[in-house]
Amino acid sequence: MSSSANSPGVVSQSLKNCRVFITGASRGVGLESARLFLRSGARVIGAAKDPARLQAAVEELRSLGEFHSVVMDLSQPGFEPAAVAAVTRHFDGVLDVLFNNAGTMPAQQGVSNEPAGSLEKTLQVNLVAVHNLIRALLPALLEGTKPRIMNTSSGAGTLAAVVENSLASYRVSKFALNGLTLNWAGALKGRVAVNAFDPGWVKTAMGGPNAPGTPQESARGALALALLPFATTGKFWKDGREISW
Ligand SMILES: NC(=O)c1ccc[n+]([C@@H]2O[C@H](COP(=O)([O-])OP(=O)(O)OC[C@H]3O[C@@H](n4cnc5c(N)ncnc54)[C@H](OP(=O)(O)O)[C@@H]3O)[C@@H](O)[C@H]2O)c1
Repeated sequence: MSSSANSPGVVSQSLKNCRVFITGASRGVGLESARLFLRSGARVIGAAKDPARLQAAVEELRSLGEFHSVVMDLSQPGFEPAAVAAVTRHFDGVLDVLFNNAGTMPAQQGVSNEPAGSLEKTLQVNLVAVHNLIRALLPALLEGTKPRIMNTSSGAGTLAAVVENSLASYRVSKFALNGLTLNWAGALKGRVAVNAFDPGWVKTAMGGPNAPGTPQESARGALALALLPFATTGKFWKDGREISW
């Protein structure tokens, strides 16, 4: 890994020609990661749900490198073919990194007070869609170079934090995503590296203005994860360091 990748404004080619698919690339952690990955030489397909927000990101990201966009709503069944078509069209059906970054937090209450349906909505985007996107893009990943999957979890979903009486569905979704990460890591050992990523509490639409960190810091953590030794799999990472589940 080149240390210059961590310095804003300094162009590093640490991901040169790496074919990356990022969900939630229209804003927040995903947008900053797309910026940093492009500056690091990656070729990027970025997905999001809102076409106008994604288009605004496209205009900027294309000035940084090869960026393609795909609109897909992870809350709706049947989004996967759009992702496969984008990888086929732009990367000849080959993918090196799937960065499952998109996430949702439709409710913030404790488990007894969340509106009905919160768990279903949250699990669909944060867990089920991740699983289905992995399934859909696995053939492309298996053609890739040292391919890897990075699943964006949260400190809110650790074993220590899942007991807290707030953000109930969100915590449970990330706790389950950690389990899904471990399960896929076991199934794909030696073929695709699968790790979980905690971007930290950062200032985004989801993190809010009082968050202590910035999405630029999260993006550096994501880049570090993309550059881990290929043999590293089934682990949980924050700021380039392994953390506890
Ligand atoms: N911010 C934090 O403090 C924090 C802390 C720990 C973990 N995380 C995790 O980090 C990831 C990124 O969070 P963020 O703070 O950057 O969030 P954000 O600013 O709210 O951005 C969320 C991104 O996910 C996309 N997205 C949401 N629902 C979607 C759907 N149904 N279909 C397709 N795309 C969808 C959004 O696309 P649209 O623009 O189209 O809606 C947007 O690009 C999430 O997985 C989150 O759980 C964040």
